Amino acid sequence: MEQQQASSCGGVAEADEKRIRVQSAISQFKMMKGALIPILHEIQDLYGYLPEPVLQMVAAELNLPMSEIYGVASFYHFFSLTPKGENVVHLCLGTACYIKGAQAVLDRLSTELKVPVQGTTEDNKFTLEATRCLGACGLAPVMTIGEKVHGRLTPNTIPKILKGI
Ligand code: FES
Repeated sequence: MEQQQASSCGGVAEADEKRIRVQSAISQFKMMKGALIPILHEIQDLYGYLPEPVLQMVAAELNLPMSEIYGVASFYHFFSLTPKGENVVHLCLGTACYIKGAQAVLDRLSTELKVPVQGTTEDNKFTLEATRCLGACGLAPVMTIGEKVHGRLTPNTIPKILKGI
């Protein structure tokens, strides 16, 4: 991923900028107990996931084995070890949404996007994820796309919503 970004001058500058920011986060948190989590947060914010070469840099700087970093990264659901699409679709499968037909909505999303749950579309535009309660049960079934909440979904509302993005 990073190598792809480095294929143009702008990409090189962006990749360097991100590395500098990671380095700065490492310097900021290095001496603190539990430094790894805020550093991983910074990396996730910068890249949208945790790229392996960057994790290797963290491992070297913090003198930690990669196995420990992967252990932490895979324990917390908000960290991702794979790149995500431009828009992450979170479809709620909590009880209220499930009772109101969330599974059929999820199936339709999967069909329309041509990806399974956790999958990312070929054009990198969408990643489909199933999630627990989003705290908007009154609008069940609910999904978020980025920051936007879509409620009272049916399978037939999905194509229009996706088309609008
Ligand atoms: S169960 Fe879906 S928003 Fe609460």
